Amino acid sequence: MIVALTGTPGTGKTTVARILEKKYRVIYLKDFKDTRVYYDEARDTYVVDIDMLREKIEHMELEGDVIIEGHYSHEMPVDMAIVLRCHPDELKRRLARRGYRDIKIMENVEAEAMGIIAEECLAKFPEEKVFEIDTSILTPEQVADAVNRIISGEGEEYRRRISYMGEILKWY
Ligand SMILES: Nc1ncnc2c1ncn2[C@@H]1O[C@H](COP(=O)(O)OP(=O)(O)O)[C@@H](O)[C@H]1O
Ligand SMILES: [Mg+2]
Repeated sequence: MIVALTGTPGTGKTTVARILEKKYRVIYLKDFKDTRVYYDEARDTYVVDIDMLREKIEHMELEGDVIIEGHYSHEMPVDMAIVLRCHPDELKRRLARRGYRDIKIMENVEAEAMGIIAEECLAKFPEEKVFEIDTSILTPEQVADAVNRIISGEGEEYRRRISYMGEILKWY
């Protein structure tokens, strides 16, 4: 089974994927540097050729349970999507600690509060193939355990939809 481990930057994908490496083959989309088209100065981020990335993944021989990590992983040929979620206040703290510029922090905090990646997954996959984990209340080890449970078919509770939309109202 090929599993997308996706989520807004700062939700903990890489931290959790490193733990999961003990058990699964993990592919990090960040490693495919030749799919970067250009650096977007204003947004302080690389723009990636998603189609090229997908083709590269399609040409890999993947066997057994494989995790694809990255915020584009749900755009890849995968069987299910696990979306890491994070409360906007906690995400802001994590991204500030990481040294992100204010504009980049706000862009990501807004995207997470609106649930953009989860929505993209729900538009693309049948609902039962989309799982969400609230990382703001868990340690990375606990998040990795949740991923394990989902992959082994015991993650029913993670089909519950998470929404931080109410937080947006507090900003005004
Ligand atoms: N479950 C968690 N609880 C608290 N902090 C976390 C958790 N997961 C990740 N972090 C911290 O949040 C920051 C972003 O994590 P990272 O794994 O780099 O996110 P991503 O790969 O999704 O951008 C890091 O400083 C990391 O230590
Ligand atoms: Mg990462």
